[in-house]
Amino acid sequence: MTAAVQRREGFASRLGVLTATLGSAVGLGNIWKFPYMTGDGGGAAFLLIYLLATLLVGLPIMIGEIMLGRSARSNAVGTWKRLAPGSHWYLVGAAGVLAAFLIMAFYTDVVGWVFTFIVKAASGELNAVDPKVGEAAFGAMVSNPWHSLFWQWGVLILVGSILLGGVAKGIEKTTKILMPVLFIMLLAVCVRSLMLPGAGEGLSFLFKPDFSKVTVDVVLNAMGLAFFKLSIGMGTMMTYGSYFRDDADIPFVTARVMLADLLVSLLAGIAIFPAVFSYGFTPAAGPGLLFMTMPAVFSSLPFGQFFMTMFFLLTGVATIGAMLSLFEVPVALFAGSGLLGRKPAVIVTTIALAVFGVPATLSFSTMADVTLFGKNAFDLYDFLSSNVILPVGGICICLYTGWIWGRERAQEALSNAGTLANAALVRVWHPLVCFVTPLLVVLVLLRGLKVF
Ligand code: TRP
Repeated sequence: MTAAVQRREGFASRLGVLTATLGSAVGLGNIWKFPYMTGDGGGAAFLLIYLLATLLVGLPIMIGEIMLGRSARSNAVGTWKRLAPGSHWYLVGAAGVLAAFLIMAFYTDVVGWVFTFIVKAASGELNAVDPKVGEAAFGAMVSNPWHSLFWQWGVLILVGSILLGGVAKGIEKTTKILMPVLFIMLLAVCVRSLMLPGAGEGLSFLFKPDFSKVTVDVVLNAMGLAFFKLSIGMGTMMTYGSYFRDDADIPFVTARVMLADLLVSLLAGIAIFPAVFSYGFTPAAGPGLLFMTMPAVFSSLPFGQFFMTMFFLLTGVATIGAMLSLFEVPVALFAGSGLLGRKPAVIVTTIALAVFGVPATLSFSTMADVTLFGKNAFDLYDFLSSNVILPVGGICICLYTGWIWGRERAQEALSNAGTLANAALVRVWHPLVCFVTPLLVVLVLLRGLKVF
């Protein structure tokens, strides 16, 4: 190990490697996207497809991306420059940094809504069984430009101040506290929801397989979700991989993160749907479910204000780790370039993200009419990152690790230079990243671009 490598900060403990990586995976994807996609896609039928997508698309790329980051011990751009000097592979990393800005811009906007709703729920303002109350509160919130910007910038300052602490004392320490807190709060809301009369209907909505609802789009949605959920394809996992300890078992950590993340998604579904059905509401998709239906659902049940506040609080808690990992991508790049120290890099990134986020946030008010390709900034940022950069990045990681590195070099890296006996696993992983995974991602990409 060279001196330069030793000086670089990383995750200090095995548990920290796990909680930080899990923290990145867990987020709005679990509490927002997963439940309604499962509902729309035929319950358990979707779950089965999502599991398959995670195994064939998500895990192979995540393993490859973390492996590259740990091998190079550098940021999203520096990793490519170190591993493939003199080539154009670093452009994959540069696109990833752009994606981090795009995702953070709309992500922090939504998290700002969540934080606002924590306050509104706690104050009792949302105590009404009529979804129109939540609807009105939501509409008033997003159409007020200064209010939205205030909360978005507040969220950025909060995340930035955690990152000022560094990798071990900032990211690792925070996720070690937040992940258990999230599980406990989620379990409490689940128990409350399951105890309601008629909870079974919600459970069967979530777990009864209905294969008649499975279409090509449902399958491709499941693959897209596997991408977004595991934070792959844009350098987040590469950056975190560069903080992994030398003795970390990459495939094992990855598998555990995937399972724990799946558990959070399932618990979110169990917290939401039995309560929704018990009070005769219909499960709406997207912001409607979280911000309009859920306040009315909670208002209907005993101790509703308490559980409503807890629900929005746990959603907020879930998003912190994801934002830390996205924010860390440009911070690691700026700090790694040698031009800035870590603290100035955090400050510069906070300001840059605040500026970048303005068009996304104002998409619901002042800038609602400003569109490109028929999309406002919020939708455009989401489209460019989720439908273009993430899949292209994923394909590049597959091709590079599978074809250029090849099995033997990957075996060396994934077995920690022969100390782990996982040759059989690498023998399964290698043909996947060479053929199966990139092929499936190409389909996601083409569908996302509406080619077919
Ligand atoms: N995985 C997070 C979620 O489910 C979001 C996220 C964090 C992400 N980092 C990412 C998505 C990188 C794509 C790429 O909410």
